Amino acid sequence: MIIAIDGTLASGKGTIATRLAAHYGLPHMDTGRLYRATGVAAMRAGVALDDADAIAALAARLDPGLYEEAELRTAEAGVAASKVAVIPEVRTALLQLQRDFAHQPTGAVLDGRDIGTVVCPDADVKLWVDADLDARARRRHAELTASGATISLDDLIRQLRERDERDRSRKDAPMKMAADAVLIDTTHLTIDAAVEKARAAVDAVMARQ
Ligand code: DC
Repeated sequence: MIIAIDGTLASGKGTIATRLAAHYGLPHMDTGRLYRATGVAAMRAGVALDDADAIAALAARLDPGLYEEAELRTAEAGVAASKVAVIPEVRTALLQLQRDFAHQPTGAVLDGRDIGTVVCPDADVKLWVDADLDARARRRHAELTASGATISLDDLIRQLRERDERDRSRKDAPMKMAADAVLIDTTHLTIDAAVEKARAAVDAVMARQ
């Protein structure tokens, strides 16, 4: 069973992925982490975020275990991730890693932007998680504030809009809902209700198999 979960920033896709993986006993890969680690590797090495060759080389020998979660979770790492994710050679360098993870015997849950469209077009279940920009910004704002960061809601809305736009408009593997994905709009859903919907979609596929 391969479960592909894609969607916009701060839509709740990561939480849904974690909860589904725990529920079905499947390994989980947060693929955004790979792009974040690549972005942080570039920043650490002082490489410009549009230096395609240098960043592709960093992605090709990436060891995601070398990075602290806190370092990968900063807003700066998110922006860097979105910038390096535009580079086709970076995406190619990270593709096999993701496919190998998906095709282990147990199956897997992967979440990202292009799992259902590019990484695992053959996934058993595809979910597309989205919510209104305002709802996503408010949630992310509460998270960031709780972790001690200070950013205004307006700035955050601007950042989310910019990042979504970059992820959506890149030429290679743009963020996009797969034609056969199930939409989960979390704007008016609690996280429990969103997870419940996701589980219903997975159970429906399992019942047919
Ligand atoms: O989900 P996230 O915020 O951790 O992702 C960070 C960036 O990485 C996102 O803005 C775009 C990129 N990304 C991608 O291009 N493809 C994926 N499968 C996952 C993330």
